[in-house]
Amino acid sequence: LANGLGMTPPMGWNTWNHFYCDINETIIRESGTNILMWDALVSTGLAKLGYRYVNIDDCWAEHDRDSTGYMVPKRLTFPSGIKALADYVHGKGLKLGIYSDAGHQTCSQTMPGSLGHEQKDAETFASWGIDYLKYDNCNNDDLKPMKRYPEMTRALMRTGRPIFVSLCEWGDMHPALWADKLGNSWRTTFDINDSWESMVSRADQNEVYAEHARPGGWNDPDMLEVGNGGMSNDEYIVHFSLWAASKAPLIIGCDVRSMTKETLAILGNEEVIAVNQDPLGVQAKKVRMYGDSEVWAGPLSGYRTVVILLNRSPEFRTITAQWDDIGLPPNTVVEVRDLWKHATLEKRFANELTVDVHHHACKMFQLTPLTLSEEEPKV
Ligand code: GLA
Repeated sequence: LANGLGMTPPMGWNTWNHFYCDINETIIRESGTNILMWDALVSTGLAKLGYRYVNIDDCWAEHDRDSTGYMVPKRLTFPSGIKALADYVHGKGLKLGIYSDAGHQTCSQTMPGSLGHEQKDAETFASWGIDYLKYDNCNNDDLKPMKRYPEMTRALMRTGRPIFVSLCEWGDMHPALWADKLGNSWRTTFDINDSWESMVSRADQNEVYAEHARPGGWNDPDMLEVGNGGMSNDEYIVHFSLWAASKAPLIIGCDVRSMTKETLAILGNEEVIAVNQDPLGVQAKKVRMYGDSEVWAGPLSGYRTVVILLNRSPEFRTITAQWDDIGLPPNTVVEVRDLWKHATLEKRFANELTVDVHHHACKMFQLTPLTLSEEEPKV
């Protein structure tokens, strides 16, 4: 969507994956503060690493609109209102996201959707100072999403406020094929849950649409589960590595008020975040499968390449990335940086890279060419 937003994938936090409907303004305030201040490992805090959106998901509004047709924040859980929350979050240098639905009710059915009320709701969101709208797909009377989403996007554009548009059509109508003029990101999958199978299958479904991702519009395999407890640390590293290289939105979904050091070391890995935020904006693809062993790769700016060697099996594997598969000319000598060990390997590699990978784990490397090919002058 040409609204100047999302030139790199959005980064932030959202209430849904951890809290579901059990949200209130205190959680939002405390989480925003923690995103800004968190410095157990990264002295700068998560916000400085790019996590700027603090996003409220479903269940923030009263079940019924008021007598003039406006949505009303839940009096019990959001007594200060959304504008006050936006002011608070903006005061911390962060941005506030909110949620609605391109149907009559949201998925939880505890609050109204925006279908038929797009202009009024867009104006309300803009007047509150909202910076990001996640726009869902439930209770839509089977109207095609291509008919429902443009109304909201146009209404948001008319407000004149830059609002990131996150389309939550879950992939069944292939939004990657038609949503680039309507949203800054679009879901390519049904909802993720906090398990290995759910996570890797979301990555697979999202990979199919790699060609459609670009600055301003990103494929969205759903929000991060890192830190919610259902996967091992290695599995969460796979989750974050695949999302980063796939140029997916990095929207944290755990309780950022009580993150462990291990969780923070994953979400705060600056080198992996830099892959996600690389200005080239090209989504990595699965370029080779050997049974349960996979190689994912994609180009980065500066002629660099990101490579993930992924072991999906329950056993140890040795995996090789061949230059031919990852798009490097034969005999290209590269320097290899291990993005999880934060170390540059002493050895140089010229045609392939072979590594051992534990079960349900991955290695993630950045390859920087030292010579372009045999014909080129040696460095
Ligand atoms: C849908 C979305 C989820 C979440 C819930 C809220 O299932 O895909 O991400 O927003 O609705 O009800």
